[in-house]
Amino acid sequence: MASGMAIFRGRLSGRSPFGVRCMSSWWQQVEPAAKDPILGVTEAFLADSDPRKVNVGVGAYRDDSGKPVVLECVREAERRIAGKQNMEYLPMGGSVKMVEETLKLAYGENSEFIKDKKIAAVQALSGTGACRLFADFQKRFKPDSQIYIPVPTWANHHNIWRDAQVPQRTFHYYLPETRGLDFAALMDDVKNAPNGSFFLLHACAHNPTGVDPTEEQWKEISYQFKAKNHFAFFDMAYQGFASGDPERDARAIRIFLEDGHLIGCAQSYAKNMGLYGQRVGCLSILCEDEKQAVAVKSQLQQIARPMYSNPPVHGALIVSTILSDPELKSLWLKEVKGMADRIIGMRTTLRENLEKLGSPLSWEHITNQIGMFCFSGLTPEQVDRLTNEFHIYMTRNGRISMAGVTTGNVGYLANAIHEVTKSA
Ligand code: LMR
Repeated sequence: MASGMAIFRGRLSGRSPFGVRCMSSWWQQVEPAAKDPILGVTEAFLADSDPRKVNVGVGAYRDDSGKPVVLECVREAERRIAGKQNMEYLPMGGSVKMVEETLKLAYGENSEFIKDKKIAAVQALSGTGACRLFADFQKRFKPDSQIYIPVPTWANHHNIWRDAQVPQRTFHYYLPETRGLDFAALMDDVKNAPNGSFFLLHACAHNPTGVDPTEEQWKEISYQFKAKNHFAFFDMAYQGFASGDPERDARAIRIFLEDGHLIGCAQSYAKNMGLYGQRVGCLSILCEDEKQAVAVKSQLQQIARPMYSNPPVHGALIVSTILSDPELKSLWLKEVKGMADRIIGMRTTLRENLEKLGSPLSWEHITNQIGMFCFSGLTPEQVDRLTNEFHIYMTRNGRISMAGVTTGNVGYLANAIHEVTKSA
């Protein structure tokens, strides 16, 4: 007995409420998770004390002095709502007003689908939350389906559908040789996928490549989707960042709607309203009729309920305040264009700088690609050199967040890129 007790005591380490040391063995098997390929870059950047450091990793807009930006329309909306809002729960589906305004951006101001109440839509925790809600919905109601994901894509898309346990397939998208769209291979993959497959499409400003299909190509894709009865799920995280005009950036979605597709769509205000940390977005699924939309929405809410019950209020209120006021909305449109234009300007300057340095490589793709990112073609080894020798932080797939490029750092960046590529 006494020796049994000794063995028992001997096994214990740490303090228990009974004054005995207890063993901390519950999570022994847990290994540290791999660093996130995008957010891990920000962590490394923050830990670097070199004054020359540059962060072109995460897709978050900076002004020309490298500072995060709060839009003037957002500040004004905050002034208008300050002190007026109670802290009650939103409904499970979120702010009805915010969702209504958000649908107009994707489906059109005078969309008959909105009027006829054919869209099941809920507020979501930004674009990530919208994709994840959809992936869970897909798993629940189409348990045998898979999702076709472009190569490459935003790294988190893979995590989202993996955690929702939806098997993933890929389809061709980017052709490294041309630094453009691999349209022929994309169309082959669409044709060869089993009828009725689910496809994830970036509505505009493809992340990470900055390469979008042309309007004509979207029409062909839509036509082929119709022929194969595929389901198009659009992730529209960058509406406004491709052309500077949210309406133009919704063109791909509108083409699919004109062709009679019943689509799904994830929207986010992280980038185009700069509401990154507010986590405001929307998931919508266009249904056959109002009855179906009511059923689908109720199921989306039921998926949200055990995860987070209902979404947060503040960001949604900012969005609905801006979009329901014509004056604030036009200020927003002006500010979105301002952000997109600054990025376009930086593309030109970066390319010019590389050409002036006498780089033997072609940097045309920097200005051909659109949106927040430039898929530079730098290899992981070249990126490592940029980080280790020049304190320039970016994802190892060679993606440069053009939003982090400024008048002050573009020369330094160009010089460093030239240094690591000149013998390539
Ligand atoms: C990005 O691609 O950098 C952004 O969408 C931020 C993120 O969450 O990955």
